[in-house]
Amino acid sequence: MSEKAQLIIEGKTIELPIVMGTENEKAIDISSLRGSTGYITIDPGYKNTGATSSAITFLDGEKGILRYRGYSIEDLAEKSSFLEVSYLLIYGELPNKPELEAFQKEITHHTLIHEDIKNILEGFPSNSHPMGVLSSLVSSLTAFYPESLDPNRSADEVDLSIKRLLAKIPTMAAWAFKNEIGHPANYPDNALNYCSNFLKMMFSVPSEKYDVDPVIANALDKLLILHADHEQNCSTSTVRIVGSSHASLYASIAAGISALWGPLHGGANQSVIEMLEGIQADGGDVKKYMDKAKDKNDSFRLMGFGHRVYKNFDPRATIIKKAADDVLEKLGVNDPILEIAKGLEVIALKDPYFVERKLYPNVDFYSGIIYRAIGIPTSMFTVMFTLGRLPGWIAQWKEMRENKEPIGRPRQVYTGNNLRRFKTVSER
Ligand code: SDX
Repeated sequence: MSEKAQLIIEGKTIELPIVMGTENEKAIDISSLRGSTGYITIDPGYKNTGATSSAITFLDGEKGILRYRGYSIEDLAEKSSFLEVSYLLIYGELPNKPELEAFQKEITHHTLIHEDIKNILEGFPSNSHPMGVLSSLVSSLTAFYPESLDPNRSADEVDLSIKRLLAKIPTMAAWAFKNEIGHPANYPDNALNYCSNFLKMMFSVPSEKYDVDPVIANALDKLLILHADHEQNCSTSTVRIVGSSHASLYASIAAGISALWGPLHGGANQSVIEMLEGIQADGGDVKKYMDKAKDKNDSFRLMGFGHRVYKNFDPRATIIKKAADDVLEKLGVNDPILEIAKGLEVIALKDPYFVERKLYPNVDFYSGIIYRAIGIPTSMFTVMFTLGRLPGWIAQWKEMRENKEPIGRPRQVYTGNNLRRFKTVSER
């Protein structure tokens, strides 16, 4: 697109190129702005600023569209599997049968983690939050695989790091959970698929036979697909900017885990359940909590509602809400907080405060209800988000490296003191 934007600054008109994406999104390329005007732009939270061009995920917040490499999230959630979607995000195409079987076999045969990781786990108090443990364990992979430290060394080594990470993170997540509850860690069972192996490592205990319920394994696989990528969200942007310094994949992902942990981001799924349990404990008066959410003097927010991009429905929330009904019915679980959640949604969708601000349920509003139903403890909810988002982080990191993007280094507007003379302590 040869169109240009015109900017008039101090009587001078400059032209800036307009960039158009394949879904007709438009951007003004300001890379020449400071050089030609001395001005920078400022946009706290990057609400209007694109950090990159990417071919991985497309979402349209107004229309509630989400696609991975052009495939709709609805199709992928219904017809694909998490490992197949991981392959699609990372390598750009859906795998054919031999490619998928080879990928699954490689992932399966990297699930074991070094025994010394148990020593690291022992260093954490048993009540440690699993997200802090997981971020540390992922970072520790740089010690067990020192050849991974230089991502410029070889594409094959980067690919091996990618497969090691996808394979080992369920094991590390399950070991972090077992450490939290003081149970012995379980080793991977390579006869099981990705989600079944994770569930068995999470819930099997010595001297008891554990059979994976396919309803639970399938529900988990769908949830991981729905969380797999979401373009330039907070944690993905963190992974990209850490990777832009040529830090290793493991170091970049460990940083992304920490960013996801925040309650405004991936930590919201834990906060939603804690909020719903609080409302239930307080008598279930949803109207009281709706009023609190609208009260500017009250720090309470309706967790699981609102989104930086979706200003209509979050397509993932729609799918998860239906899956929650299905899974709870199949498992014969009657969870009263599901009814509280539905009650909140009904009221919020009619309330002018929420309607005017375009606040709808997001991916985190219903996901915790399924996790509870399948036995995942609340403290592990954001770890589940991490397992889902991992292929997306990897794909975005890989794209940034392959596109040879420069180190991320934003500018600022300085608002501090002007030059002043140093005073000795006796002068102050
Ligand atoms: C995820 O970016 C991604 O893609 C993220 C994610 C992914 O897949 O990676 O989708 C995952 O992080 C989902 C979001 C999970 N977070 C929550 O559910 C936490 C609750 N929601 C919010 O805190 C908030 O909605 C954000 C953080 C999600 C979005 O914040 P924005 O875009 O910065 O919007 P804002 O805070 O400026 O809010 C705009 C207005 C404000 O009111 P006014 O000042 O205009 O009067 O809406 C209000 C806010 O006070 N508002 C809420 C609210 N969310 C926004 N009021 C009550 N309850 C809420 N949940």
